[in-house]
Amino acid sequence: MIVKDFSIVSGGVYPELAEAIAKELEQKLLSTELKRFANGERYVRYEESVRQKNLFIIQSFSEVNGYSLNDAFMELLLLVDAARRASANEITAVLPILPYARQDRKARNREPISTSVILRTLENIGVDRIITVDLHSAQTQAIFNRPFDHLIASPIISKTLRKLTAKNKSSYILVSPDAGRAKETESYADELGLDYVHLPKTRDRQNSSHINRPAKITGVQDKRCIIIDDMIDTGGTLITAANTLKDSGAKDIIVATTHGILSNNAAERFDKSPISKLYIIDTISQKQNKAILKDKLEIMPIAPLMAKAIKRIALGESLDFMFNGKNNK
Ligand code: R5P
Repeated sequence: MIVKDFSIVSGGVYPELAEAIAKELEQKLLSTELKRFANGERYVRYEESVRQKNLFIIQSFSEVNGYSLNDAFMELLLLVDAARRASANEITAVLPILPYARQDRKARNREPISTSVILRTLENIGVDRIITVDLHSAQTQAIFNRPFDHLIASPIISKTLRKLTAKNKSSYILVSPDAGRAKETESYADELGLDYVHLPKTRDRQNSSHINRPAKITGVQDKRCIIIDDMIDTGGTLITAANTLKDSGAKDIIVATTHGILSNNAAERFDKSPISKLYIIDTISQKQNKAILKDKLEIMPIAPLMAKAIKRIALGESLDFMFNGKNNK
């Protein structure tokens, strides 16, 4: 079968990921000029023709390489606009992490729904398709009225955890860090043949960064606990969970997550926490976190899965078999 002509473009936030994806696809990244003007505005230009090309524009979102999250989004919009005006054919925004994805509803009066702003802007500027990984809530894709390929990292996480727990399954237990992750944790427990517990979490109404946990829970005494979450931001959710598990007699505490944001010096706090190991998918560059956490952090690469999905999309093939239909749940 002939692969339709397509090209990979990298935004400036995490070019190493785009290079790894391009390498898997035996492609070279399209040459671009990306820069920042002295006043903070961004500039982009394609240094070769994109006429009639199907473009996969990869942009990750984190505060690295002199980018703010919003700079990264602006640069993505400029790359899409430049491609549209230069007669590109289909434009796919490949977003390993979707920015503003947690602001997916009005929690209080007179708030915006920020994820809707992001997705409607991408649609209006001319993005034909979005590919992203582990949306905070799968129904978010309803805001974007064009093809939306939601990839899930669970095949990678399951493989890692299966290997970790294989020799002594009964010593491990999965822990859901809040009600929102309960269903997902149950699904991992079924798949891996492990027990699981839910750990209650509430946030202060006035100060949402303050998390309340029970002092102790039952069922984790002398167990190796594995907490699975979709993302670590400040680390508050997981560090408070780890403290409760430790005080409840857990023997070991391990974390597996997709998006490792680790803002506000979270890496330093994880280093001092009772957590012995963090498994993180590299939808965001983990270079700075790795320098702090060293062997405590194990990175699970996302590039092979994303490259496979891009290839199948370019070939017009289904993604279903990659995820057994689970990416729609
Ligand atoms: C919550 O609903 C999410 O699944 C994460 O648990 C949360 O967003 C992580 O944020 P933080 O690390 O700041 O607690």
